[in-house]
Amino acid sequence: MRTIGILTSGGDAPGMNAAIRAAARAALALGWRVFGVQQGYAGLIANRMAALDARAVGGIIQHGGTVLGSARSAEFRTGAGRAQALRHLDERGINGLVVIGGNGSQTGAHALSQAGLAVVGVASTIDNDLVGTDTTIGADTAVNVTLEAIDRLRTTGSSHQRAFVVETMGRDVGHIALAAGIAGGAEVISVPELEVTPQEVADRLRAAYQRGKTHAIVVVAEGARHNAQALLAHFARHREAIGFELRLTTLGHMVRGGIPTAADRVLATRLGAEAVACLARGHTGVLVGAHGAALTTTPLADVAGRTKPVDVAWLQLARVLAQ
Ligand code: F6P
Repeated sequence: MRTIGILTSGGDAPGMNAAIRAAARAALALGWRVFGVQQGYAGLIANRMAALDARAVGGIIQHGGTVLGSARSAEFRTGAGRAQALRHLDERGINGLVVIGGNGSQTGAHALSQAGLAVVGVASTIDNDLVGTDTTIGADTAVNVTLEAIDRLRTTGSSHQRAFVVETMGRDVGHIALAAGIAGGAEVISVPELEVTPQEVADRLRAAYQRGKTHAIVVVAEGARHNAQALLAHFARHREAIGFELRLTTLGHMVRGGIPTAADRVLATRLGAEAVACLARGHTGVLVGAHGAALTTTPLADVAGRTKPVDVAWLQLARVLAQ
């Protein structure tokens, strides 16, 4: 019989609970013992873990956040912190670990794997910036929350002939902004991978105004150098350059909370169960992700410390369609 731990780490993501449930129940079905680690790597260091049975992960699939809690642990980045974490796992006989999280979390998973622990990562971050997967748990929900905001702002924007700058999360990349911007028919999308200057935003808004549009939406990723605040400061000095009256909405952590979409629950369920299947096969030191309909694995060494940028061709398409 094996004993494994499951943890969620870094920024929480809607769908993490579905991944916890799937990994726990897949392991229990193999006759394994399962521990849930609280508060990610910080919980490993502090020795906060509790045994999970099938009931303990019941009734959670529909909830956002993570029932295990999450954290960003500076201590885990030190050799001493990791050594303590490994000691606590060893004391409980835990010889396998499922790490559900994004970039920083999978870098931590790689370090544990290099130290000899059987680790499998599950791709989970609203940012969708992990190398080794088309999409990550939580990204679909974050896009849909952003999209709902865009749709709502467009309604009130039309009544008042206003333009809205909507800033969404995504850390250093623009996956959420791009997908929500395309789905919401945004006039301008600005992401770190392809910035739109304030002057160009003004030109495009004025052109939209002159074409008779009743509203305009500018979606900006938080990581863009000219983020929403920068754009607003610029337009405060050049109000006449736009035509529309302008308002700003920053979505912030709103996009990370809430009910996971069906797509995120299904993805999380598949990835969580597959992580356990990998542990069972002895295929460890990998990240489980999805490419098209297939589940795939990528060595954590190829994932750690890297970021997947958006496909800028999508931006060109969005621009053509924003007529
Ligand atoms: O990585 C997820 C994310 O929500 C990013 O989009 C954002 O930049 C960051 O986390 C915010 O971090 P925190 O919750 O620690 O403020």
